[in-house]
Amino acid sequence: MKSLNSFEPFIKQRPLPRHIGIIMDGNGRWAELRGLPRLEGHREGANRVREVTRCARRLGLEAVTLYAFSMQNWMRPWDEIEGLMALLSEYLLKERHEILDNQIKLNVIGELDRLPDEVREPLLELCEASASNKEMVLTLAVSYGSREELVFAARRLAQRVARGEMRPEEIDAKALEGELFTFGLPEVDMLVRTSGELRISNFLLWQSAYAELVFSSTLWPDFREPQFLDCLAEYQRRERRFGYTSAQLRSPST
Ligand code: FPP
Repeated sequence: MKSLNSFEPFIKQRPLPRHIGIIMDGNGRWAELRGLPRLEGHREGANRVREVTRCARRLGLEAVTLYAFSMQNWMRPWDEIEGLMALLSEYLLKERHEILDNQIKLNVIGELDRLPDEVREPLLELCEASASNKEMVLTLAVSYGSREELVFAARRLAQRVARGEMRPEEIDAKALEGELFTFGLPEVDMLVRTSGELRISNFLLWQSAYAELVFSSTLWPDFREPQFLDCLAEYQRRERRFGYTSAQLRSPST
């Protein structure tokens, strides 16, 4: 995986986010602007998934989570859903070698029971085949909603209390985190949304509590390495205070 961008060495010299979440928005508008069916936008978007993942891996990022299909996307016209599902299975087939050869661990979060077998089975198979890979975790959020994930976690904790396995006062942030689909991943440091929309849309709400939000006006199918590196440069310009003051961060004894 060779470096393609002259800007990249500068990005590599400064602290990078451990975990990036990306809301890949704007596929439909990209296609409509060209008089193409919406699915063509998703197809071009799948190429950007490949490109951005390669770049993230080359930079040495620990984790990238992509919002590929939300719980709310089930309300879209059936032909668009079918098209997106077909793109997902195509992606899994085409990217298998790249994922395995580059030591990427594929992970999936979401309500997988709703997925067609042709997507769920190869998805879980590739997750299993790549489970011991150590270089980067690529998580696909598919049939995913953050509120639904939190409800599920709350229910699991309530069940543990009902079974007498824990006391209500033992429920804390750590216990709740332990029930999230993302358990084991670092907190999200940077959350990117493309296409100029300024919303989080039910994506990793808990996990992004202290994430730097970076909004790009570029539609996802046009979001290439330079745009991704621009987002990282924007992240590196931010001061992450986590509730402290700037002075405290400069000299921790104050
Ligand atoms: C939002 O754009 C995007 C989606 C609902 C799907 C994202 C899917 C891909 C990028 C391709 C398949 C994914 C993988 C991992 C291979 P939109 O349709 O809401 O765009 P719009 O707001 O312009 O209508």
